[in-house]
Amino acid sequence: MRLVARPSGPIRGRVRPPGDKSISHRALLLGALAEGVTEIDGLLEGEDVLCTAAAMRAFGAEVARHALGRWRVTGRGSRGFAQPAGSIDFGNSGTGVRLTMGAASTFPIRATYTGDSSLSGRPMRRILDPLAQMGARWEARDDGLLPATVHGGDLKAIDYASPHASAQIKSAVLLAGLGAEGVTTVTEPRASRDHTERMLRAFGVAVEETETREGIHTARVAGGARLAAQRVVVPADPSSAAFLIAAAMIRPGSDLRLDDVCMNHLRTGFFETVHDMGGILPVEDYRVETEEPIGDFIVRPPAGLRGTAPPESRAASMIDEYPILSALAAFAEGETTLSGAAELRVKESDRIALMVEGLRACGVDAEERSDGLVVHGRGMGGVPGGATVRTHGDHRIAMSFLILGLGAQSPVVVEDAEMIATSFPGFADLMRSLGADISETA
Ligand code: S3P
Repeated sequence: MRLVARPSGPIRGRVRPPGDKSISHRALLLGALAEGVTEIDGLLEGEDVLCTAAAMRAFGAEVARHALGRWRVTGRGSRGFAQPAGSIDFGNSGTGVRLTMGAASTFPIRATYTGDSSLSGRPMRRILDPLAQMGARWEARDDGLLPATVHGGDLKAIDYASPHASAQIKSAVLLAGLGAEGVTTVTEPRASRDHTERMLRAFGVAVEETETREGIHTARVAGGARLAAQRVVVPADPSSAAFLIAAAMIRPGSDLRLDDVCMNHLRTGFFETVHDMGGILPVEDYRVETEEPIGDFIVRPPAGLRGTAPPESRAASMIDEYPILSALAAFAEGETTLSGAAELRVKESDRIALMVEGLRACGVDAEERSDGLVVHGRGMGGVPGGATVRTHGDHRIAMSFLILGLGAQSPVVVEDAEMIATSFPGFADLMRSLGADISETA
C-alpha cells in the first residue's frame, strides 16, 4: 500500500496516542511468567505486540482479549513455559523476539524463532551470546540470524557487560536471570529504557540498580524469582506521540492535546530536543501509573524552529525518534547534527541511510555520518517535498515522511505503508481526523 501526504491545514484535536509498544510487550511477557491473572489496560494492538501475545500462547499461557486494549493473561507461574508445538513467528518485532528468547531460555524447552525479511537480517548474537554464557545452547542461520533455535534450562547467573546501551539486550539477560542460579548482573555503557526493571518491581521482583557518575548503569536480579500477577495500565507511547507532535509543530494554527503519554526520563530525549529547537511542550498533570510517570501535552507550533546538536548522552532516550527528528530538522533554520546513534543502522532498516536518501529526494540537503546524520534545515515552509520515498518496510521511516509531506510544498508518497500497523495501527485515520491530508494512492 502507498500513502500520499499532501500539504495540510492545522492539526487540531485531543487524542490518547496508542499504547506504549515496549511496555505492552513486557506486560504480556511478565503476565505469562507470573502466577495468576494479569489484567492489562491500554495494550497496543499493533502487529509487533500481537506476535508476542501469540508467542505467549505458544508457551502455554492463556491470553484473551476482552475489549480494545483490555487483555487478560493467565500466567504459567510455577509450571514454567511449556514446550511450543511449532516455530514462533515474531514478524517485524526485534523487541518481541529478543525479550522472549531471554525469558524462555530459563525453561527446559526448545524454541525456534522466525521473523519477516527485516527481522531475519537483524543481529541476534547480541542476545544468543550472553544466553550461551548462561548455559543455553543455540543454532541459528549464518551464525546469528533468524531462524534461530534456543535450548534452555539449567542456566547459571552471569555478570554481563553489554557493549551497547540496549534495553533489548539488558532485558533479555535480566529475564533469563529470573530463572538462573545466582545473581545476574547487566552493565551497560549508559542507561537504556528501564521498563523491564520497573515492571518486574510491580510484579514483586527485587531489582537492584546503580549508576556511576559517568553514566554506566548496572541492573541486578536474583534467580528463583516468583512473579505475582498484576493489573497493568499501559501509558501512551512517547515514540508514537512524537509523530503527532512533529505534525502540529510544522502546521500553523495547530492546537493538539495528547493524553497519558509515558514520561519515563529514559524516553524523553525527543521532547528535550524539540525544546532545544525552540518548540515548547507544556506538560499538564504529571502522575504515575504502574511505576511509570505519565503526563498530558499541549502542542502548538512555535514561530520557528532552529537547528540543534543534541548531546550523544541523549541518544538512548530518543533512539526510535531519530527518523521523525530528522524530518522535523528539515523545517528548522540551520543545521541539525545527530550523532552517537550507530545502532540506527541495525533497526528495522538502516535508518541513517534511508532518512538521508528520503530527505534528499524531498529536496533537503542531508549527509550520512557513521553514527548519525546532518540535516540542513530549510525553515518552515521551505521544504520542497514532491517525491516518492522508499521505506524498506520500516514503519517509522514511513510515518516520518508522511509527516514531512504535511508541511512540504508538494505531496510526498510513501511505499510499504502497511508496516505502520506494527507500532501505530490506525495512524492514517487518526491523522485525518486531526486535519491531515493523508490518503491511499496507486
Ligand atoms: C526497545 C528498545 C530499543 C528500541 C525498541 C524497543 C525495548 O532498542 O529501539 O524499539 O522495548 O526494549 P534497544 O535495544 O536499542 O534499546
